[in-house]
Amino acid sequence: MEKTARAADKAAEKAVQRCIDSACGATYGLRERIYVCPRCGGTLEIDCHLDASGDAAALRTRWAARAASRDPRDVSGVWRYREMLPFDEPIPFVTLFEGNTPLYHGPRSAQYCGLDDLRLKHQGCNPTGSFKDTGMTTAVTQAVVLGARTAVCASTGNTSASLAAYAGRAGLQSAVLLPRGQISSGKLAQTLDYGALVCEIDGNFDDCMRLIQELGDDPSIYVANSINPFRIEGQKTVAFEMMEQCLWQVPDHVVVPGGNMGNSTALGKGFQELLDLGMIERLPKLSVIQAEGAAPVARLFATLDLKKTDGGANLPETMAPVENPRTLATAIKIGAPVSWKKALRAVLRSSGKIISVSEQEIADAKAIIGRDGIGCEPGSATTVAGIKKLVAAGHIRADEDVIAVLTGHMLKDPDYVSAYHRGTLALDSGSKDGSAAPQPIHGAFQNSPERVAANKAAILATLERRR
Ligand code: F0G
Repeated sequence: MEKTARAADKAAEKAVQRCIDSACGATYGLRERIYVCPRCGGTLEIDCHLDASGDAAALRTRWAARAASRDPRDVSGVWRYREMLPFDEPIPFVTLFEGNTPLYHGPRSAQYCGLDDLRLKHQGCNPTGSFKDTGMTTAVTQAVVLGARTAVCASTGNTSASLAAYAGRAGLQSAVLLPRGQISSGKLAQTLDYGALVCEIDGNFDDCMRLIQELGDDPSIYVANSINPFRIEGQKTVAFEMMEQCLWQVPDHVVVPGGNMGNSTALGKGFQELLDLGMIERLPKLSVIQAEGAAPVARLFATLDLKKTDGGANLPETMAPVENPRTLATAIKIGAPVSWKKALRAVLRSSGKIISVSEQEIADAKAIIGRDGIGCEPGSATTVAGIKKLVAAGHIRADEDVIAVLTGHMLKDPDYVSAYHRGTLALDSGSKDGSAAPQPIHGAFQNSPERVAANKAAILATLERRR
């Protein structure tokens, strides 16, 4: 067996949890139920000790061969890459056959952005309709390994739906803290149906996240938010699947939405591991797009002196949170993202950007993605809105190879979509007393339904008018 494959096999055996703070760098065993560094409070990541030199072809061939296998570990688009995951065989893995999501071309979206071509990796095609499933399969598996009684998370809706489904599958109790009245009805319905205990909290997502961090101390509780490094491990496999779909030709740019910043962290880690193993020759530039009203990391990024950050080796200590985040893209309505440091490091290492886009930009980008026949939720559309801006600013050239990661399915939030097309979409003013008027969003690609008389002539006349 060639060296890379052997090195990857060793990963599970040798992996540790490591504090990312370079001044600390403490390491902990994989069986320790911790979510932040017990020594300094820093963020943890899993260090798989992958060998940087070897024959990448062996691992690629092994992964490709699994496409023809019916072994459930191979059918899953996450466990197919198990050499890169920190679990020892036999794994009591909990799977709903996540991953295996399509990589589409989006010609209309490309034109809208000013690109020759644009590809869209649709993570909304996962079992519960969002990218969260790729991380939840590993997190819930780890909860089973540790013998946890209850898995919990704070959520803007997708994490909760995903946790509920995977915990249900594992026969594990799950409980979710949701900001009351701020979750799309589709996500809430999923979470209830999959059997989680739903705690509606009077507060926003950041309040729920703070409570989760307090609950994490209780020995019966397992925290399934992306602060948990086992979530990131599953989510990083998206980079592997994407590279297989690209036939190992590294795209120039990969662009993702940013909320709690777990997804960007995971993609950055996945690409970095491929580079360390010699399976790709360079990193794609990883850029993260936040919604203007919930953009603490984009704000911080704008103030950075990039030369001083030393390619991500030198990170700022703190980030000012947004106290009252506001966006109709409720999935990413987050003011104090927990994984901001890891994500920032990944972006800086790859020479990407972190920027924000307006509500109008998100809404129009979402509709143009729809015209390509691809339905995503508003939070996902930040990518196409952000790419348009990055092209206009000269960070992305028209002829570059660009992939946008769409994170959630359109049917997650159909109320938003209908309101956009009917011309009734508006962002609440955010004023405490409700005195200020909501800010209307004018749909540039509005497609409102027509009331048509119930006869053939009327229908044909309507068609003609809209041709
Ligand atoms: N897109 C969608 C559809 C999401 O649901 C989320 C996060 C993001 C993007 C942002 O990803 O947090 O990893 O930066 N949703 C979380 C949740 C917070 O609770 O469902 P991130």
